[in-house]
Amino acid sequence: MRRTEPLRALVRETHLEPEALILPLFLCPGEGVRREISSMPGVFNLSIDEAVKEAEAAASLGIGGLLLFGLPETKDEEATGAWADDGIVQRGLRALKQSSAAKRLVLMADVCLCEYTTHGHCGVVREHADGYEVENDTSVVLLAKTAVSLAQAGADVVAPSDMMDGRVAVMRGALNHEGLEQTPILSYAAKFTSAFYGPFREAADSAPQFGDRRSYQMDSANVREAMREIELDLGEGADMILMKPAMPYLDVIRAARERFDVPIGAYQVSGEYSMLQAAIAKGWLDGERAMMESLLAIRRAGAGFIVTYFAQEAAKRLG
Ligand code: PBG
Repeated sequence: MRRTEPLRALVRETHLEPEALILPLFLCPGEGVRREISSMPGVFNLSIDEAVKEAEAAASLGIGGLLLFGLPETKDEEATGAWADDGIVQRGLRALKQSSAAKRLVLMADVCLCEYTTHGHCGVVREHADGYEVENDTSVVLLAKTAVSLAQAGADVVAPSDMMDGRVAVMRGALNHEGLEQTPILSYAAKFTSAFYGPFREAADSAPQFGDRRSYQMDSANVREAMREIELDLGEGADMILMKPAMPYLDVIRAARERFDVPIGAYQVSGEYSMLQAAIAKGWLDGERAMMESLLAIRRAGAGFIVTYFAQEAAKRLG
């Protein structure tokens, strides 16, 4: 049954389609800006006008949607740029909504504070005598405010990636209170502390200035705890869940798929992209094959959709 491509196609169990791919975009201030991330060839910081062009290209390739991140003009302790009505992603969403691409793409907005705080943590930091604490409950209030503001600006889906406890419930309540009960929540329910986020922190200028994210992101060793995180988020009203990173955590994706009946996405994160790109650039890997195999493996593990920096390249290959 492996002898010819038609035979192989007949018995193939897993397929990829462009509409199952979500492209992350990093919005930055200015006009005509298209600045490549040094550790992520082919990925850019884009001003809003350039992001609209990128969205149109993505839509014509049949890509399913965009996941938006923002680089604000200024940062502060309260992450004002995350929830301000004229924040960078809010402005980007309004511009994207005007474009013809918007009807063909799901516009997802990442909800987190780390790109907007001076210290780069995903929540509010309180300093005390022996160090500091990322405060869960005050952070949740700001995250909910951020989700409402992004939904009001036109986000089709809000995607909290902060990993604070109880944020989905508070966010759901705040959205409903504002008449946004139709906006689904895609919760990064199982997000592990990971070295593979390194290049993203250059792309989003969000590296923590002190400490690390181990007090809120999950320990890489835990799969049972991941199931509990998902269960809690679904109980709080999450509509879909996102697993992250993808390739080093395929077993966690599989376990989630077998246990829960909600849509599950996986995020092939920056470091997964960068390590493949580095080996491809050296000629050590066949780029197209390595890219497609990595995406197929994530799909096979149980992800219905995949957030990936390869979205455009892969969609070209599939189309
Ligand atoms: C924000 C956030 C991060 C990523 C997505 N949302 C960074 C982090 O947690 O440090 C990483 C995505 C990637 O590496 O591509 N909290």
